[in-house]
Amino acid sequence: MKVPSQVKLVDVGPRDGLQNEKAPVPAAVKIELVHRLQDAGLKEIEVTSFVSPRWVPQMADNAEVMAGIRRKPGVRYSVLTPNMKGFEAALESQPDEIVVFGAASEAFSQRNINCSIAESIERFAPVVAAARARGIHVRAAMSTAVACPYEGDIAPERVEMVARLMKQIGVQHLGVADTIGVGTPRKVQRAMEAALKHYALDDVSGHFHDTYGQALANTLACLEMGIWQYDASVAGLGGCPYAKGATGNVATEDVVYMLQGMDIDTGIDLDKLIDAGKFISDHLGRKPNSRAATAILNKRAG
Ligand code: HMG
Ligand code: MG
Repeated sequence: MKVPSQVKLVDVGPRDGLQNEKAPVPAAVKIELVHRLQDAGLKEIEVTSFVSPRWVPQMADNAEVMAGIRRKPGVRYSVLTPNMKGFEAALESQPDEIVVFGAASEAFSQRNINCSIAESIERFAPVVAAARARGIHVRAAMSTAVACPYEGDIAPERVEMVARLMKQIGVQHLGVADTIGVGTPRKVQRAMEAALKHYALDDVSGHFHDTYGQALANTLACLEMGIWQYDASVAGLGGCPYAKGATGNVATEDVVYMLQGMDIDTGIDLDKLIDAGKFISDHLGRKPNSRAATAILNKRAG
């Protein structure tokens, strides 16, 4: 399989990245982050989630953030919607894509969305149908596709099963997530192969948290399978409130640096992306969690 010549990156920083921040981040800062990401050339941005504000207070300003964005033609703005209540609330914001999020592990499903895998599919089915009836693209995220913080290693057969269920209810694109960032290349490839039993190569993406520093290696392993779509988080922000100890996604800056070095086109301006990462990191009072950003910022300072 030839490595793709083009890659699409979805920046999940405003959602996955910020959802784990304890101190409230003002909506204006989130909006500015989205603007900076689109100016850097991101073509898809995961902006927020329409979940319970009691569960994830940081996302309570979802509608305000969506309303504040200056939409750039050609950019897809996506939001998480776990159930019909979330979907209906999201509609006014006119997302281009909605994301339902399930898990390959029962225990994680319970902790994250308070229901079993089977119940989650029942909840997602009307959301998927309603979105597709309105022409809104539907993606699913499958958490814990490699391992679960509560159950340990997850067999590829579990991934295959959940991929099949997602396909049956009409989900168009499946994101395979290593939620806690423990995966290594061959394990991630096996999870992807399981997803590819039900989804075409053009309809899957990788979502790798970088807890153990494996996310770039896992991305390369998937590139070698021909997979050309990945989530990443500017400045390496994030984590999941229901996966203790897991750090953020692989930094978008690091992925872009690697892809540029491999002559793979992303359409992203690395310098502007680094500025976006610095902007949000400054707001959060820390340094960007990206080796490439750190190196380039040091070089600029020198
Ligand atoms: P529940 O308590 O089972 O829901 O929560 P419920 O239907 O029983 O309702 C209970 C209350 O919540 C009711 O309010 C509902 O109205 C309200 P009350 O009557 O008690 O005042 N409610 C809602 N409010 C706002 N928006 C909604 C909504 N639904 C119900 N959509 C629920 C179920 C899914 C809502 C809850 O468990 C939840 O919000 N969980 C948050 C999950 C989350 O956001 N996790 C992080 C994102 S996933 C992730 O990060 C992983 C990913 O990055 C991939 C990876 O790395 O693995 C995607
Ligand atoms: Mg995640």
